[in-house]
Amino acid sequence: MNDTTNPAKISVRGIRKTFELKDTEFVALERVDLDIADNEFVTVVGPSGCGKSTLMNILAGLEEPTAGEALVDGKSVHGPGPERGVIFQQYALFPWLTVRKNVEFGLKLAGLPKAERRERAEHFIRMVGLEQFADALPKMLSGGMKQRCAIARAYAVNPSILLMDEPFGALDALTRVKLQEQLLETWSSEKRTVMFITHDVDEAVFLGNRVIVMAARPGRIYDVIDVNLPYPRAEDVRLSPEFTELRNRVWHSVYHQEAGIVAGTASS
Ligand SMILES: Nc1ncnc2c1ncn2[C@@H]1O[C@H](COP(=O)(O)OP(=O)(O)OP(=O)(O)O)[C@@H](O)[C@H]1O
Ligand SMILES: [Mg+2]
Repeated sequence: MNDTTNPAKISVRGIRKTFELKDTEFVALERVDLDIADNEFVTVVGPSGCGKSTLMNILAGLEEPTAGEALVDGKSVHGPGPERGVIFQQYALFPWLTVRKNVEFGLKLAGLPKAERRERAEHFIRMVGLEQFADALPKMLSGGMKQRCAIARAYAVNPSILLMDEPFGALDALTRVKLQEQLLETWSSEKRTVMFITHDVDEAVFLGNRVIVMAARPGRIYDVIDVNLPYPRAEDVRLSPEFTELRNRVWHSVYHQEAGIVAGTASS
């Protein structure tokens, strides 16, 4: 994956990230190396505080690493870009804009004509089931509905990379399964590279080509598990013995972590 003919879509090279904490230095990420291939779907799990959001924010261009670098299409990341759609852990909607205007926002920036904007926004608002609330302001929505609006907004600009930080965390189980399957459908039909953070081990295995398990103190890659389950994935996959076996493996890796082990490199 690292040869020059087929460079990784996303590369994380020796990333270290520290934060000043009173008089001490807090190490949020240490020696993180990761390659994500074009059109790969990578899921990230790990205990709270292990640096998942910090890693995503670096890839999104919202934080600079203390050492090392992040590359997208071989170029060093400094700041956000339209090829990267981001869904934050805390749904970041513009509170003064309606659902429709929030979803149209990126399309307006991209210079799409009004009619086309409207049509694309409608499509994605319907996809997340918010058509009744298209003209509502975010304060009138529940947590799960806000998150669905954030998902529609990220999908609408059609980015080649989706960086998703626990996007389905606030959703009810039914909507969650529906959106997981929709996300896989979108990913299979249109070329996309996805990094998807979750606390849910089942979700990580159901969605990913690969599950990256992180550990805390310092935040690092602890394990990488290939998920060789066939796509399209639906209920039969969730109920298969292979799924259960992989899920148990990931579960063990997340909940029985030994202190101080750093995976050498996480590239496949
Ligand atoms: N801006 C900041 N200033 C100081 N410390 C920070 C900052 N951002 C993150 N941290 C610290 O870095 C560590 C990693 O935080 P991060 O939000 O990346 O964790 P996470 O894996 O996403 O956790 P969760 O699963 O709870 O969302 C935490 O200990 C956090 O306190
Ligand atoms: Mg987080």
